Amino acid sequence: MNYPILSLILKFLFLLCVHFTVPALAANSTSTHILLSCGTSGTFLDTINNLTWVGDIDTKYISKEASQNSTIPYQDPNVPAIPLSTARIFTTNYTYKIPLSPGRYFLRLYFYPTNYSNHHAADSFFTATAGPYTLLSNFSALITVNALNYAYLIREFSINVTSSTLDLTFAPSTEHSNAFAFINGIEIVSSPDDIFSVSTAYFGDGTNRIFSYDQGMAFQTMYRLNVGGQSLASSQDSGSLYRTWDDDSNYILGAAFGVTFQNDTNVTIEYPPTVPQYIAPVSIYETARSMGPNPQINMNYNLTWLLTIDAGFYYLLRFHFCEIQYPITKVNQRVFFIYINNQTAQTQFDVIVYSGGIGKPVFRDYVVLTVGSGQMDMWVALYPDLSTRTEYFDAILNGLEVFKMSMVENNLAGLNPVPTEQNTIDPTQGFVDKNKGSKGNNAAIIGGGVAGGVLLISIIACICLFIIYKQQKRKDRASEEGKISGDTTIWTPLSLYGVSNSQPSISSKTNTTPGTGTGTGSGTGSYNSTLPANLCRHFSFNEILAATNGFNESLVLGVGGFGKVYQGEIDNGSTKVAIKRGNPLSEQGVHEFQTEIELLSKLRHRHLVSLIGYCEEKNEMILVYDYMAHGTLREHLYRTKNPPLAWKQRLEICIGAARGLHYLHTGAKHTVIHRDVKTTNILLDEKWIAKVSDFGLSKTGPALDHSHVSTVVKGSFGYLDPEYYRRQQLTEKSDVYSFGVVLFEVLCARPVIINSLPKEQVSLAEWAQFCQRKGVLEEIIDPYLRDKIAPQCLKKYAETAEQCLADQGIDRPSIGDVLWNLEFALQLQLNAEESGSLMGGTTSGDDTPAVIYGKKEISDEPTSDSTTTTTTISMGGRSIVSTDSHGLTPSAVFSQLMNPKGR
Ligand SMILES: *[C@@H]1O[C@H](CO)[C@@H](O)[C@H](O)[C@H]1NC(C)=O
Ligand SMILES: *[C@@H]1O[C@H](CO)[C@@H](O)[C@H](O)[C@H]1NC(C)=O
Ligand SMILES: *[C@@H]1O[C@H](CO)[C@@H](O)[C@H](O)[C@H]1NC(C)=O
Ligand SMILES: *[C@@H]1O[C@H](CO)[C@@H](O)[C@H](O)[C@H]1NC(C)=O
Ligand SMILES: *[C@@H]1O[C@H](CO)[C@@H](O)[C@H](O)[C@H]1NC(C)=O
Ligand SMILES: *[C@@H]1O[C@H](CO)[C@@H](O)[C@H](O)[C@H]1NC(C)=O
Ligand SMILES: *[C@@H]1O[C@H](CO)[C@@H](O)[C@H](O)[C@H]1NC(C)=O
Ligand SMILES: *[C@@H]1O[C@H](CO)[C@@H](O)[C@H](O)[C@H]1NC(C)=O
Repeated sequence: MNYPILSLILKFLFLLCVHFTVPALAANSTSTHILLSCGTSGTFLDTINNLTWVGDIDTKYISKEASQNSTIPYQDPNVPAIPLSTARIFTTNYTYKIPLSPGRYFLRLYFYPTNYSNHHAADSFFTATAGPYTLLSNFSALITVNALNYAYLIREFSINVTSSTLDLTFAPSTEHSNAFAFINGIEIVSSPDDIFSVSTAYFGDGTNRIFSYDQGMAFQTMYRLNVGGQSLASSQDSGSLYRTWDDDSNYILGAAFGVTFQNDTNVTIEYPPTVPQYIAPVSIYETARSMGPNPQINMNYNLTWLLTIDAGFYYLLRFHFCEIQYPITKVNQRVFFIYINNQTAQTQFDVIVYSGGIGKPVFRDYVVLTVGSGQMDMWVALYPDLSTRTEYFDAILNGLEVFKMSMVENNLAGLNPVPTEQNTIDPTQGFVDKNKGSKGNNAAIIGGGVAGGVLLISIIACICLFIIYKQQKRKDRASEEGKISGDTTIWTPLSLYGVSNSQPSISSKTNTTPGTGTGTGSGTGSYNSTLPANLCRHFSFNEILAATNGFNESLVLGVGGFGKVYQGEIDNGSTKVAIKRGNPLSEQGVHEFQTEIELLSKLRHRHLVSLIGYCEEKNEMILVYDYMAHGTLREHLYRTKNPPLAWKQRLEICIGAARGLHYLHTGAKHTVIHRDVKTTNILLDEKWIAKVSDFGLSKTGPALDHSHVSTVVKGSFGYLDPEYYRRQQLTEKSDVYSFGVVLFEVLCARPVIINSLPKEQVSLAEWAQFCQRKGVLEEIIDPYLRDKIAPQCLKKYAETAEQCLADQGIDRPSIGDVLWNLEFALQLQLNAEESGSLMGGTTSGDDTPAVIYGKKEISDEPTSDSTTTTTTISMGGRSIVSTDSHGLTPSAVFSQLMNPKGR
């Protein structure tokens, strides 16, 4: 069960490249699998996938004089060594001549853009052709990875080889001086000739015309998603095609995730003769996503995936379906629309009709044309079709593939993404945030590192799923909790029913109650929340109606499994609030809901999001929250158009969040364990004060969670305390663990789980700890922060985060200790900035006591180092200059700890 150790072993296995001296290549038309590691000689075993790569020098495919080998001098830890640690460089046109028998093949090109000897990565622009097909044109791998925020790319194509040799040509661009081409790895796998034409494809424009294939066409894989399931490595693919399948949750629009589920135990999946085994592995059909159990909610939203693609091409979309749960076994039970780009691709789609029964996979192909140039978002949406007497208002999807087609002049090359500096808005991406864009194209680089990277995640997922399975008996199909929820753009999930739901950004703009000045929260103001303690405001349904203009659709901020979230105004428009309307409750539910809400509303703190009130009239379940102007912390960390936060500001936010947690753990009458600490549950108000949200409801009784509350595994994948798996016992230290993950997330500005990365990097918690132990943490921190963090501050911060992630809860510091250490780290940073010695690293940090853990009493004064400094603290864009007489304590603002009244 000790998977950190296991994963460590796997890490080393993965890094280990076994060197053989047998250059042997089997080229067999029926089972070709060529793996060329470019710019090197020898053979290399990728132990995870059990695949052997051969140096291209040892083959007859290249002529040695024509190009250069280059070994990458510095190996980025984010990049798998095979085949990316060497490259072949071309300064003139060059062709690999690879003997193949005629037929269809997958061709995968691996690119790691970096400086190669005297060639600068930014100079690389080139065209790549394979036989008659143009695969890439004026392509810059560097611009592409930068736009995607990725280290490397894998591009997959399906090509038809008609002669006995495949000419794979790399031509440096003539439009750029010093242009050069490079390639790190080439993979060729034979595929069934009819892999695309095996079924009838329809135009997805509602006309239902049949699309006829030109057999000579080439395809580029843009997306290959295992809907409702986890990423699959190439070794888990069917038909020996070595495809990788990506988790779909990152592409879902907004917070409307629906629910994911698995096949019932008594459902076995059997492929009908019309579905060859190679179409997709059984794991694709074993998991699915549907809209959810509530018809009311389902009728109000489309289950939507947003996929970034190159405009101006035809696309083939292959939808994989399979009904896998009772009671859906008959026609007319689940009937739905399929929309592609706002057009009705299919009406009255009934999986049972097309597949012939439960447990039988089926797939459908649609072709759509996109117009324009540059990048655009493709919308794929499902919605219940009420025109039939469908029994459940619901839709289902198990897998989705999107291929770009070479309809015109055998061309598949799109434009490079518009280079985006961090923070600048990419006009090609519309309103979609960078998150979607980058993840989107990440799948364009299908397989990007997934090969081999999925093992660890699978192990974790198995453990996780097993526990969830055990505990919930899969009663509630809302397995969202155990999944990596994609990043919502605006909303943070609130957990009711144990499902991720949308929650608006919430904060106190003005006060709900008359009498409290509007100046609270100005940075030096009181620590009290905007409402008097114990006030639980009870709203009438009419008040809610007035606040939301009768639940006016135009005020909807988001939709989730929980229901809709509206922006509203109360007290004659003086207070902006976020109003969440859940599903109607049962009689008994109402009582428990009240008790719960009353309990929650007593938790008041400057660093907690205030629940203003609730309404339970007419069995409604409505929650009213403060409105938060700056949204979630995550929105300011990565995959965002928001400017990066300064290090000091990040520290202040972490300190604020730690304060909120500290209050939950120690300040309230009863210890409250948050259970779902993550960056989307840390919200920021208009003054950038961090507020912890989504607490307390986690412990809610049966009214809010129909399964047994005490046994529901709550928490988000990537943040979950490993000890919680083992002992299934929740303590405050579980929050400390999750907070440690948050600290690394803030430092590294990356998602806590990235399935597409090599296994050892998938989990941020694992990877950051690994790098910290190796002393190379600096390599993985947010590039924006490089050279901006005082070394002593970084050291303190990283040590603190690392201790939070201790395997045993008992070894982790208390949140109070964490808070103290973060304040200390902030002070080290301020000192360094003050003395202007940020780069030099000579600050008072060295002579301060290093041992702090476990000693510090909350009420203590900090260890006085009595360097009286004038510190400039920036809060919410405003600078507060405070003369500091407490040595380490910059100002009262940051030491609520020292001020127990501060709650
Ligand atoms: C290619 O593979 C097939 C089946 O795997 C086998 O029958 C055939 O002999 C192989 N051909 C060569 C040239 O190895
Ligand atoms: C690895 O692949 C080779 C053939 O490519 C096979 O003989 C061997 O059994 C495989 N090893 C494992 C551990 O799967
Ligand atoms: C490439 O590597 C091979 C084998 O190491 C070597 O013989 C050859 O000279 C190298 N070519 C260049 C251009 O460096
Ligand atoms: C190299 O290839 C490019 C594009 O394929 C072509 O335009 C150019 O003429 C070629 N250059 C030479 C010297 O063959
Ligand atoms: C390849 O293209 C040729 C010519 O268009 C066609 O006859 C052949 O069937 C194609 N092969 C495959 C495997 O698609
Ligand atoms: C799903 O189906 C497979 C076989 O198709 C079966 O082996 C497996 O046990 C099923 N999974 C569950 C969770 O029942
Ligand atoms: C399979 O199991 C489900 C419950 O998981 C049950 O409702 C259904 O009747 C069972 N079906 C068969 C054919 O056993
Ligand atoms: C779902 O999408 C379709 C097609 O874009 C649109 O016409 C419809 O209004 C949407 N429905 C909802 C409830 O958003």
